[in-house]
Amino acid sequence: MKLCLILACAALLYTVSAVKHRDLGLGLCSDSERERIYGLDGEEVWHADFSLEKGVMTLPQFVDPYSYAEGTYEQAVADIETCRNNLGLSIKGYNNPPIPKVAPQSSVYTKSSAQLGSKNTLICHITGFYPPHVEVFWTRNNVNVTDEASLSRYYINTEDGTFKLVSTLSFTPEEGDIYSCSVQHTALDRALTKTWEVDVELPGVGGSVFCGVGLAGGLLGVAVGTFFLIKGNNCN
Ligand SMILES: *[C@@H]1O[C@H](CO)[C@@H](O)[C@H](O)[C@H]1NC(C)=O
Repeated sequence: MKLCLILACAALLYTVSAVKHRDLGLGLCSDSERERIYGLDGEEVWHADFSLEKGVMTLPQFVDPYSYAEGTYEQAVADIETCRNNLGLSIKGYNNPPIPKVAPQSSVYTKSSAQLGSKNTLICHITGFYPPHVEVFWTRNNVNVTDEASLSRYYINTEDGTFKLVSTLSFTPEEGDIYSCSVQHTALDRALTKTWEVDVELPGVGGSVFCGVGLAGGLLGVAVGTFFLIKGNNCN
């Protein structure tokens, strides 16, 4: 797959107020991909959905609803045209530079705290990769359950132009079950695999052990401190 994605229309960063907030307009394009995003403080607020042919607000629920002016989507389509023209010229000008590759990092965790026998969701968070294409596979006790999982769209990390996404798997924790999430990406020699194990630790034990060790350490510190304090005074 030929993917020449660059931060073409250059991240247009407008500083609304020098200290408080950062308004963001981002355009990306390649032969096959296109993204037009508006955001605030590194978070996406609006993006053009080119398959739905309209703009989509992606605000969290606690925000008062508002929308972008009419014509924003049409403007985005025009911006992408410009971006592709510029990209063609740049690739020629830079003599066909190699496409940068950055490998992803991943982590697996549950949506809510895991309890045996109660429905939950495993989340595989994959971030920091470039170009924006990954394949994600899931296993339960070494059995392929990829078909049960779903994949989000690609989100851009606005600080560095790398991408992130999440894959989710609905599941019910059963004692001894082991799950894994494997990621394949062009910058990886072999799949990046993270596992998640159903842990049936007795609640509370871990906490009191930590508390006990911490308390013992603290008391020891006081004792040692007092010892040297007295010793120091005696030397005078
Ligand atoms: C697991 O299943 C998916 C979807 O059916 C398939 O694309 C993938 O190749 C399978 N992986 C393995 C290791 O069998």
